[in-house]
Amino acid sequence: MKVKCLPTRKGTRKPVGKKSTEGTATYAKKYASMMKNSKAEYMRARNFLPGGVESNFRHLDPFPFYAARADGSRIYDIDGNEYIDFLLSQGAILFGHRKREIEKAVTQQLKKGANTAIPTELCADVARMISCYVPSVRLLRFANSGTEATMHALRTARGFTGKDKIAKPEGGYHGMHDYVLWSIWAPKMRGSKKRPEPTPFSRGVPEAVAKTVIVFPFNDIEATYDILHKERDNLAAVITEPVMANVGCLVPRDSYLGELRKICSELGILLILDEVITGFRLARGGAQEVFKVKPDLTTFGKALGGGFQMAAFGGRKDVMTELLSSDDTWPPKEWPMKTYHAGTYSAHPVSLAASGAALRLMADDRVYSRLRRISETFYPGLQQLIEDRRITAHVAACGSMGHIYFGAREVRTVREALNTRWDVLGEWGMECLVRGMLFGHPKGEKMFISTAHTRGDIEMALEVADSGFHAIRL
Ligand SMILES: Cc1ncc(COP(=O)(O)O)c(C=O)c1O
Repeated sequence: MKVKCLPTRKGTRKPVGKKSTEGTATYAKKYASMMKNSKAEYMRARNFLPGGVESNFRHLDPFPFYAARADGSRIYDIDGNEYIDFLLSQGAILFGHRKREIEKAVTQQLKKGANTAIPTELCADVARMISCYVPSVRLLRFANSGTEATMHALRTARGFTGKDKIAKPEGGYHGMHDYVLWSIWAPKMRGSKKRPEPTPFSRGVPEAVAKTVIVFPFNDIEATYDILHKERDNLAAVITEPVMANVGCLVPRDSYLGELRKICSELGILLILDEVITGFRLARGGAQEVFKVKPDLTTFGKALGGGFQMAAFGGRKDVMTELLSSDDTWPPKEWPMKTYHAGTYSAHPVSLAASGAALRLMADDRVYSRLRRISETFYPGLQQLIEDRRITAHVAACGSMGHIYFGAREVRTVREALNTRWDVLGEWGMECLVRGMLFGHPKGEKMFISTAHTRGDIEMALEVADSGFHAIRL
């Protein structure tokens, strides 16, 4: 599968202003006037939910807007406003909303009952399809979210190797558990760019956990090697996103992933690719197919569920067999037991039905050729508009996901990505939102494309994007 990752573009002359307020931002008034019902809902919801939302990331200034329904490439809010959706449930929606085949599978399954916590035939059906699309996954287990998948994968790696520490890249996001909530974003990251140190992202994560976390700089293979080599006797696993989607869309350079694979093998450290975003999106076989890397374990989520809560982790047979007790007796004769994985809702039949339908749709090559075609119009189109308007910004894209780094001509490292103008991105996002375009979460979530987007959607999107560029222009 050939996936195009946009090379860094230069051709930028005039930087955007130092402060976003220097632009000609106009969205605030419009937002307030078109979101009357959302404002009322916010006033109600904040009595029951911190910030009136159910995820810290979903809060918007001055108040969030609330969705009523979604269909195809569109979302409709409770004021009746319509948006073309490039957020796509933070990347989870690959076929557009309400894809008929997925809806049908779900409603049929619902009639058979929701969850029994007894295995169903759906489990092996879906696992077989995943293994078929992603050959590095010989055995897998299901989970309900990307967070759970990375948590279990890391514990499995620790159980298998008998080592306690894990390494993650600075800027990498792997969910909400304590072991990975480090060095995601901070006004100033701890340590130097070659020797980053764990920087907390949240209160409530014990500082003691930092002793089990090693941080390395993505795309700097020499520094990565030095760090991993020093800690090789303590490291169970390296976990990384193959494309650093949580700092925008930072593509691996200079065979970074291939070199990382070699280093992990040489040092006896398991390599976990976190394909929660990239899995089944960049290609049927995920980023590991695109970049030709074979990890020891992989984590999946988002696109795997066809819009429903579904995640998985899996990989090498010997590593995943770590999850089995040597005997089936209870209480087990061996103590401690092998590595623990369970969950009341693991392999939820309704989610599995959705997942199975989504995976069957992915068997058709036209899914990925369509995504490629649309992406190759949209992302270069954005870069062209930026250049026409003489704004300093770089559109980074990999397959159907993309991001605009405002204030930068080239972004090679996480620290460079973090230092771009996220405030301007937020302002541009809001300008486009009030014009009916949800270009990712206006706070800075990247953009995604689905097979439901049409040529007309993309034309409209580029038109609105340009008005947004105009509104933020100096
Ligand atoms: C790469 C990656 N891993 C893990 C997660 C966590 O997934 P979830 O939000 O389903 O817990 C995310 C979420 O965005 C992610 O992007």
